[in-house]
Amino acid sequence: MTHLAPSILSADFTRLGEGFTAIAEGGATYVHLDVMDGHFVPNISFGIPVVESLRKFADKNGINMVFDAHLMIDNPKEYIKPFADAGADLITFHCEACTSAGEAVEIINLIRKEGKRVGIAINPDTPSEALKDLLPQIDMALVMSVVPGFGGQGFIEHTLDKARTIRKWSDEQGLPLDIQMDGGVNLDNIQTVAGAGVNIIVVGSAIFAHEDVTAKTREFINLISK
Ligand code: DX5
Ligand code: ZN
Repeated sequence: MTHLAPSILSADFTRLGEGFTAIAEGGATYVHLDVMDGHFVPNISFGIPVVESLRKFADKNGINMVFDAHLMIDNPKEYIKPFADAGADLITFHCEACTSAGEAVEIINLIRKEGKRVGIAINPDTPSEALKDLLPQIDMALVMSVVPGFGGQGFIEHTLDKARTIRKWSDEQGLPLDIQMDGGVNLDNIQTVAGAGVNIIVVGSAIFAHEDVTAKTREFINLISK
């Protein structure tokens, strides 16, 4: 099954509960939470208290979605427990934020210790090889299809090949790996993304720029459910 993971980065933050409810009503099974620190990326978005509030809101309103935290931050090691405690189900950190391969393994173990799913992200210019040896230890590889930092950017085509390569490696090893793609996905390219072996697809501005977020969410889900 291919999942849509709407990113609330482009939501109206004064009406976050409404936006969140709208994607749930549209049938989204994941909510993608873009955390930016102004260091790893040149932008600041939101952090722990927002994730915590949304988790409380979801629990109170009987909304069942995977909380998918994409940490675009330096020093991810220090923030695994706070995001796990705030309610993240899946925690993704960036390969580029690690100072060594050993540190990536350390972070994987920290996320496991919290009983959460583990994701590792690579930027458009980072080769797939950076993740190759770690694939058996993680649940999800996130292939960035834009340079992280901002919503609403154009899709970088060559990243599709990286998703295909990672899918090939995981199939060869018989791994139950999820592959996520994030950035610049729209109604015109989402099926190409799904065809590259990606099974969790992030869409931000192409959903939240619309008046009717529920209808847009449904439209995207219909395209990847065929
Ligand atoms: C980029 C973020 C993405 C992105 C998605 O730094 O990780 O999640 O904002 O938004 P769109 O779909 O607008 O590119
Ligand atoms: Zn993201």
